[in-house]
Amino acid sequence: MIKSKFPEVGTTIFTVMSQLANEHQAVNLGQGFPDFSPDEKLVSLVNEAMINGHNQYPHMAGVKELRDSIAEKMHTLYRHAYDADTEITVTNGATEALMSTILSMVHPGDEVIVIEPCYDSYVPCIKLAGGIPVFVPLSYSINKNPAYSIDWNRVEDAITAKTKLIILNFPHNPTGITLKEADLDAIENIIKNRNIFLIADEAYEHIVFDNKKFLSLSSRENIANKTFVISSFGKTYHITGWKVGYCCAPKALTAELRKIHQFVVFTVSSPMQYALAAFMKDASTYSGLSSFYQEKHDFLHQALLNTRFKPVKSEGTFFLLADYSEISSSNELDFTKKLAIENGVALIPVSAFYKNPSAVGSNNNMVRFCFAKKNETLEKALEVLSSI
Ligand SMILES: Cc1ncc(COP(=O)(O)O)c(C=O)c1O
Repeated sequence: MIKSKFPEVGTTIFTVMSQLANEHQAVNLGQGFPDFSPDEKLVSLVNEAMINGHNQYPHMAGVKELRDSIAEKMHTLYRHAYDADTEITVTNGATEALMSTILSMVHPGDEVIVIEPCYDSYVPCIKLAGGIPVFVPLSYSINKNPAYSIDWNRVEDAITAKTKLIILNFPHNPTGITLKEADLDAIENIIKNRNIFLIADEAYEHIVFDNKKFLSLSSRENIANKTFVISSFGKTYHITGWKVGYCCAPKALTAELRKIHQFVVFTVSSPMQYALAAFMKDASTYSGLSSFYQEKHDFLHQALLNTRFKPVKSEGTFFLLADYSEISSSNELDFTKKLAIENGVALIPVSAFYKNPSAVGSNNNMVRFCFAKKNETLEKALEVLSSI
């Protein structure tokens, strides 16, 4: 008899929808990965690193050259000087950074505030650490722009003596909302004089629209001092399959993170790290990403306006949400499954990002589109979507 540690956990919705897409030859705008190739130069840098002998275990915290390149970027963009030796750790994607950070900070019975809807790995990580997730919902109204917003009073109200961590993710998956200066003021106030730490999941830091500047939590000294800032090269360089990310945090926090990281993965693929270290030195490899994705966002948004979907503009990420209430009254999971099987387009139900996906309150007739796709893929999907 196996006593499952996670009896309630099945296969994630992203895998389920990708499988359905494969089985039914559906156009896959579900799972968040690009269907185009990374820069050839980046690929040849990996090859070069292998030929140059970088094939054995690199430093546990990550290749020094890559930590230096990350430190340089964080300083240039967000004006925070992280020490590459003691404050930056290269991880197996943002996913491992999240797991290792949460395991390192959360003790049994500690409460962790998560904003709902949220990325699906946070809650299992909290539970594995013996922590208690405390959910604070985003406010939602389809008639507002943006349709989702965060009410910091509700975050403050959720704090108790047991609160250890608050997990924030901006630009936000799945809603695409970003932070404003007033949000950073509110965050600074919330953590002031409290023994509470933050995780800033900034996996989509380089995808922010309408010429807005991304406001990293590392950009405010009083916040950065208590924050694990996590990002992912997968999203920035179209290499989700390489699984390389990183975490920047003050020395004392990084020391705790590394204690877990060294036993979860020990270290991260060496040639990928050497290649990324060299590639990211050229800022244009990430500074053009927002405009690259803005074009795709605007194209999809405009085209959906000519369908019975009601799209909501994103402020960042490579996701866009749309309301389907004119098409169907089914719940989100049923609607997306039917769409994949009968119409051949795979999307993600937004309810999957809620604690209880089948609850009425988690179902707002919203679906998530991933537009990290070739234009021809988007066009193929739109051909179908405009006919339903
Ligand atoms: C908000 C968010 N955080 C973390 C991740 C995981 O990133 P990685 O692929 O680098 O592990 C994702 C991937 O979809 C994400 O959307």
